[in-house]
Amino acid sequence: MTGTSYKAHLAMASKLFEIPPEVEGVVVECGCWYGGSTANLSLACQATGRRLIVYDSFEGLPAPEGEDLYAKPEATGMLAVDLERVKRNVERYGAIECCEFRKGWFKDTLPHHKEPIVLMFLDVDWQASLDDCITNLWPHLVDKGYVFIDEFVLTDYCALFWSEEYWRRRFGRTPPGLIGSGSGVGLGGYYLGPFDEWNWSHDPTSVAYTRKDFSGYWNYYAEEQRAKETQQDTSTS
Ligand SMILES: C[S@@+](CC[C@H](N)C(=O)[O-])C[C@H]1O[C@@H](n2cnc3c(N)ncnc32)[C@H](O)[C@@H]1O
Repeated sequence: MTGTSYKAHLAMASKLFEIPPEVEGVVVECGCWYGGSTANLSLACQATGRRLIVYDSFEGLPAPEGEDLYAKPEATGMLAVDLERVKRNVERYGAIECCEFRKGWFKDTLPHHKEPIVLMFLDVDWQASLDDCITNLWPHLVDKGYVFIDEFVLTDYCALFWSEEYWRRRFGRTPPGLIGSGSGVGLGGYYLGPFDEWNWSHDPTSVAYTRKDFSGYWNYYAEEQRAKETQQDTSTS
């Protein structure tokens, strides 16, 4: 059972296959539920000789924290699937020998992550969980490493990847942007959105991604450009 589409899994596999084997690094999944996406990612890892590190509470969603706009108290503990059950699913459908499971709340486990990461899949539902993942794992991403997210239909989540304030505060850089913001990358789906006016004929079956070296930042302001040119003219005359 998986909460994400096989098309999203194939999109991630295709990017993983493009990464040269000499680039060292693991694949990370945050949020595995029953292990459906884990099984497919593990097969892509088997094919590329990489390790898959899987982070989850295995106790479902955490209680809301701070001003998380999406976390709901009544959803606390939802999506809980026991680690042994996830392992059995991955044994049956994936390549369990490539996987390492790290159980616990992201805020406790992710700060201890050490390995370089070539690709990560974040499917974590709450804003606080996505913040934990980016804050703790982005620094381990290799130069052209990929971050895929499932929350691509929610523009507030996509906004994290375009937020100048977020990237300045966390990493002192400009935002990387997000390919597939709002609608997902083009995988032959038929999703129009918006997600909160759900319509079953508009099925979001995609994924969105960014890469460490991408840029999503507007730097050109004509008035500043003109002021610079005027300054240059006056200093040379
Ligand atoms: C939507 S499910 C993942 C679905 C899965 N990727 C798939 O495609 O089937 C979200 C998962 O994130 C986990 N999760 C969310 N926030 C978490 C947190 N802060 N710490 C640990 N696990 C968390 C939940 O336990 C749940 O298993």
